Amino acid sequence: MAALVIFGGGGDLAMRMLLPSLYFLEHDGLLPDDLKIIGAARSDDSRDAYVAKVRQAVQARAQADNAWDEAAWERLASRLDYLALDATDADSLKPLKDRVGEAGATSFLAVSPSLYARIVTAMKAAGLAGPKDRLVLEKPVGRDLDSFRVIDDAVSHAFDERQVFRIDHYLGKETVQNLIALRFGNTIFEPLWNNLTIDHVQITVGETVGVGDRWPYYDEYGALRDMLQNHMLQLLCLVAMEPPSDLDPDSVRNEKVKVLRSLRPVTHEEVERVTVRGQYQAGVVEGREVDAYETERGQASDTETFVAIRADIDNWRWAGVPFFMRTGKRLAEKRTEIVIQFKPVPHSIFDRGDRGDLQDNRLIIELQPEEDISLTVMNKRPGLDQRMQLQPIRMSLSWGVDGKTAAPPRRRIAYERLLLDAMAGDSTLFVRRDEAEQAWKWVDEVAEAWAGAHVRPLPYAAGTWGPDAADLLLSRTGRAWNADDA
Ligand code: BG6
Repeated sequence: MAALVIFGGGGDLAMRMLLPSLYFLEHDGLLPDDLKIIGAARSDDSRDAYVAKVRQAVQARAQADNAWDEAAWERLASRLDYLALDATDADSLKPLKDRVGEAGATSFLAVSPSLYARIVTAMKAAGLAGPKDRLVLEKPVGRDLDSFRVIDDAVSHAFDERQVFRIDHYLGKETVQNLIALRFGNTIFEPLWNNLTIDHVQITVGETVGVGDRWPYYDEYGALRDMLQNHMLQLLCLVAMEPPSDLDPDSVRNEKVKVLRSLRPVTHEEVERVTVRGQYQAGVVEGREVDAYETERGQASDTETFVAIRADIDNWRWAGVPFFMRTGKRLAEKRTEIVIQFKPVPHSIFDRGDRGDLQDNRLIIELQPEEDISLTVMNKRPGLDQRMQLQPIRMSLSWGVDGKTAAPPRRRIAYERLLLDAMAGDSTLFVRRDEAEQAWKWVDEVAEAWAGAHVRPLPYAAGTWGPDAADLLLSRTGRAWNADDA
């Protein structure tokens, strides 16, 4: 009987994401029949107390999605077990090994990354790192390349790379996978997917939430390390990579790592021209007054809660096509999107001297708040005007079926896909060691350039789209961030 072990089984990630994901998988009949789920944590809870706590978390989430089903819960509950232990101590892990037996376990480390190295060392000593075992690591793995390597050396001492699953939950999002389908399941986009036709790419991950109680972690990381090093660079890779020969984990990850290697390093001289750091001040977000980051933190801080950056990919496909990325807390909207901005038509036959009504084609891959892929194309406005009037129309490419709109299925938690894949041993949607290293290398250069050039975060009012300098980053090149006007 195979087991899924959640270290940190009573923690925030487990209760908010992992156990609700397992409930939904159970609800849909997708969990392996014989799977047992073992929560492990320091707290001296009984199994019953743990199951009651899980029920509370899962029920709240399922009810919000109108998907609470007592029978599905009972099935999940019957798989659940709990062990109070110190995961950094091999002796303390022995009862867990007994419970797991010889079938092997997928162990998810949903604990502070500062414990990763000690836990995997103890797992190896306790016999939980055998050939049938797998290890799932939540980000952040390290704070820079050096600290990543320290953790990863301990990991690779205990496990083979094929047994290690580094999570980037953005890769579990439906639309992110749909981007792969769009690019490589159609012939019409790939011939256009290069610097001959594409003007630039934008990746925005806007959040309205603040840092709040997470500041002890966040203050050390900032937006660059919390979001850009992982989620945003992963999105960039999927947009920019060459077609892999198949969906095999190594084929896909070989292509992604090539993109990361082609990223132009950000130098001290250039850093102020190609990056923007920001930190939120007090303001109004979604109609509510909110505090400044430093008020939440309780003291002055040099940490950025916003970053915008121009990345250049030095290869044949993307030479001359800037990738603009921005992410921040306490922004105007929760919006995550990738915008592929195509070039203008070479010659317009519609205008009289200027570009008239013509807008350049734009492919918008929206991840949040809605999941959709849409293409803006020009269309004739119906009517008998002497001068032909054009209008942009936005065509959804996601849920249209035979010209009709199908209701999208329930929006899954990204971890549902990732948990299933990790248990099945499929690492396509996980980050390989060399990818993580390369991403850290590039991000370290940015951080060093900031330090070297004394770049301090610029203030921005909560509820805006960040410092004005982020707009300048594009307007200097004659471009603008996508304002969701469709
Ligand atoms: C996490 C970051 O990885 O991603 C958080 O640590 C961030 O700071 C979160 O809020 C965003 O995830 P999502 O899925 O809500 O866009």
